[in-house]
Amino acid sequence: MSSIGPTLIQQERIHTRVKELGREIEDFYKGRPVLALAVLKGAFHFVSDLIRAIDGPVEVAFITLSSYGAGTESTGKVRQLSSLDTDITDRDVLIVEDIIDTGHTLTHLLKSLGPRNPASLRTCTLLNKPSKRQVEVPIDHKGFDIPDVFVVGYGLDLAERYRNLPYIAEWVP
Ligand code: IMP
Ligand code: MG
Repeated sequence: MSSIGPTLIQQERIHTRVKELGREIEDFYKGRPVLALAVLKGAFHFVSDLIRAIDGPVEVAFITLSSYGAGTESTGKVRQLSSLDTDITDRDVLIVEDIIDTGHTLTHLLKSLGPRNPASLRTCTLLNKPSKRQVEVPIDHKGFDIPDVFVVGYGLDLAERYRNLPYIAEWVP
């Protein structure tokens, strides 16, 4: 029977690491206003905790993308489900992702945002699954590298479930 498997990253470890990432981001931008652009739905807990860990001017915006449908394998085709209505011209934009897997989602975003002339375009992901990469992507801030397992919790879902778990667990098929 499929079920939630072992805990991969406990709640405390997530919070400690998110605070460290906040410091890192603060040090990089040195008081310049940051536009944190969260990729929904998976990054909603992460961006909420991350921006509260940044001591400095931050705005938040959202975009909804989907590449997984209801399964545990990327379809490789990224669907943009909502458009970004914030003007990013001359803004310091930080893309905030829950997880980078094949790299297709981030590639799609970088290609669509680049021509909108942000002052800078950087990336931050909570999780990185390097074993599944199909396209190379630049990661500027990263929470944790994880092995080749499907994970749920802290915003990450399987067919829209388990986003409410306060920790990150392996999914056992
Ligand atoms: P990529 O386009 O393959 O890099 O996939 C990125 C997106 O796939 C993430 O934003 C997640 O929504 C989803 N994803 C990738 N791996 C997992 C996982 O292990 N659990 C839940 N969602 C995942
Ligand atoms: Mg996602």
